[in-house]
Amino acid sequence: MINVNQIKKELGEVFLGNEDVDDFSALVSYYQLCRAAVGEFGTKLENLDSDYQVRHDHNPIHHIEVRMKDVGSLLGKLRRKELPVRFSSIPDHIYDIGGLRVITNYLDDVYTVADNLLAQDDVKLIKRKDYIKNPKPSGYRSLHLVVTVPVFQADSVQVTPVEIQIRTVGMDMWGSLEHKLRYKTEAPAEKVEKYSKELQGYADEINNIESNMQNIFHKL
Ligand code: GTP
Ligand code: MG
Repeated sequence: MINVNQIKKELGEVFLGNEDVDDFSALVSYYQLCRAAVGEFGTKLENLDSDYQVRHDHNPIHHIEVRMKDVGSLLGKLRRKELPVRFSSIPDHIYDIGGLRVITNYLDDVYTVADNLLAQDDVKLIKRKDYIKNPKPSGYRSLHLVVTVPVFQADSVQVTPVEIQIRTVGMDMWGSLEHKLRYKTEAPAEKVEKYSKELQGYADEINNIESNMQNIFHKL
């Protein structure tokens, strides 16, 4: 259930100093739409996992996390991309107002989930970045998809984008710690550099361990 008052509260001072009421209500509607799209994908992913369990006696998905982009990040992203801080900048340029993170049990499950989801008629792929085949210099691994789904509204159907990050338990554990180091810490630069290097190595180690565990799983 979407609570418009809560969205309004969350969006609070959006477009700070911008008195444009139409812009504000367009944004509230768009958040509601993106939240609905996240719900659609959540259901699709849960169904996919259950069906796979019944057919193959294995759950590809460990768990799913969902989030709506907070307004501070939205404003930051508009500014970073040098877009006008207006509603009209958003639908064509910002695809991650709604986000899902799918944590899988094994490496192969990442592609099982992605392939099964993308095979669905109403799902369209907008952008795909495979940081598992091509890890970031930091060591970051994940499969990133921007996908759309039609959302049936009271009086229309809106094709709506969300960002889905798919990664293994190990990649997720690594990503969370590295994110903390990168964005949340007040540690001095030298310490950050030291730990970044250390984490880079662990990314490869985790990858090796997960590959080996995947092999054992296959052989059982
Ligand atoms: P945006 O337009 O900002 O989405 O840029 P982009 O599409 O180039 O971003 P990308 O898809 O590469 O990454 C977006 C998200 O992935 C970030 O918000 C993080 O959650 C995650 N991410 C990307 N790189 C890293 C990294 O090096 N470390 C960690 N911990 N997370 C990362
Ligand atoms: Mg992105």
